[in-house]
Amino acid sequence: MHTRETLSQLGKSKLGDYLFIVVSNREPYVHTRKGGDIKCEVPASGLTVALDPVMRACGGTWIAHGSGDADMEVVDKLGKLSVPPDDPKYSLRRVWLSKQQEDGYYYGFSNEGLWPLCHIAYTRPVFRESDWLTYKKVNHLFAEHVLSEIGDKKAFVFVQDYHLALLPRMIKERKPDTIVAQFWHIPWPNPEAFRICPWQDEILKGLLGNDLLGFHIRYHCNNFMDTIDRAIEARVDRERYEITHGGKKTAVCPYPISVDFEEIDREAQEEVVTAEMEKIRARLGLRDELVGLGLDRIDYTKGIPDRLRAMELFLEKYPDYRQRVVFIQAGVPSRIHIGTYKALNEEIDALVEKINGKYAAGEWKPIVYLREHLSPLTLMALRRMCRFSVVSSLHDGMNLVAKEFPASRFDEDGVLILSPFTGASRELTDALLVNPYATDHFAEAIRKAVAMPANERQRRMRNMRQVVRENNIYKWAGDIISDLVKFDCGE
Ligand code: G6P
Repeated sequence: MHTRETLSQLGKSKLGDYLFIVVSNREPYVHTRKGGDIKCEVPASGLTVALDPVMRACGGTWIAHGSGDADMEVVDKLGKLSVPPDDPKYSLRRVWLSKQQEDGYYYGFSNEGLWPLCHIAYTRPVFRESDWLTYKKVNHLFAEHVLSEIGDKKAFVFVQDYHLALLPRMIKERKPDTIVAQFWHIPWPNPEAFRICPWQDEILKGLLGNDLLGFHIRYHCNNFMDTIDRAIEARVDRERYEITHGGKKTAVCPYPISVDFEEIDREAQEEVVTAEMEKIRARLGLRDELVGLGLDRIDYTKGIPDRLRAMELFLEKYPDYRQRVVFIQAGVPSRIHIGTYKALNEEIDALVEKINGKYAAGEWKPIVYLREHLSPLTLMALRRMCRFSVVSSLHDGMNLVAKEFPASRFDEDGVLILSPFTGASRELTDALLVNPYATDHFAEAIRKAVAMPANERQRRMRNMRQVVRENNIYKWAGDIISDLVKFDCGE
């Protein structure tokens, strides 16, 4: 069994006197001004949810973009503070970006270029030269922070995600004795899809600066190996899953990311959650309806309109369930400066209005849409009070919402409807798997979820909980650290 303690011990024994540095775009804690007060919030990001417990176990420094409007007010001269604020376990070092840098690097190349390039959700990537140049500059800026943090010590730098594809090579070139690994939290597409990126060579060579490169599933590793094979001069060893480029080796391995099962399970059982469930029922005017739930960042990869259309069809085909089911869609606004995200917001608003307009009766309306940043307590209460939860991504590297759901259901109840286009579907085979593009099948899956007998719900939920309990976030991090040390020492 992998726990915070076993990871902490493993970290100490394997990392020895190496500094442990995590680098990502998104920071785990964001300070914002609310009226006269400064609030500390946890962002809606699978990446930060997963890495925070790892950092709590291993200690070290997490370098990330300081994006909150009060972030500068709570740090020291180096941009650092200890987190979590109420129980400090590691350092957060914030990198400051100008508006122009954020526009070009984050909104532009990362989220209008690489994000739609890697997710097959039929949104066309946009590649602007100016965004690319800013992306390179910001990767350099992150490299300066990493190198200044390392100084003349030895370090293990663990880079996260597609915002920082050029960083590994930059670090290796300047400080070759640093161990560098990267985890790519989103899918890697096939070579035909990837080759439309005008700067694919530089990106691939940047990534080959890593000693170890991780993806969620083997399929993405294979896509990456194929992309390298087609795009650049390198030796691709498919037996050992190693790539050699310019005399340097990069190991490519799958590591399915997960959540802190024990912690979620414990928090789910706190009395405040039951009180919060009551509050939500009262606030939303719910009686004894069955609750369906969608919890997402509002992103076009998540299939939110698709699930609303399925709910609409379900209500049309099964009128007996009208007034007996309420679907709560909680959506956290995301990347709203980008046109496709704005259009998605409008599409969701229009669909909710249409469905409610068609079916609402008396006090009852079928869809409740909460577009706001909800507290961890409210999210937990929603997960616990629903009969079924829907994760309908059109494409998703893993999707941790799908794993948080069974981790929260210590009562062994609740049904998960899950898209087969998520990494999570490889492990959560007791979910109801349904193609979100197939609205008829989707509506049937909803009907199956609401009609499923208690003993079947329990059997499926028990199995899913077992999978997440065994394959938790500490196993994920422990496997990466163990492999990396093995690889580097040539054991
Ligand atoms: C995905 C990405 C993360 C990102 C998260 C939230 O999970 O893989 O890197 O942090 O989305 O998106 P945001 O743009 O708000 O950080």
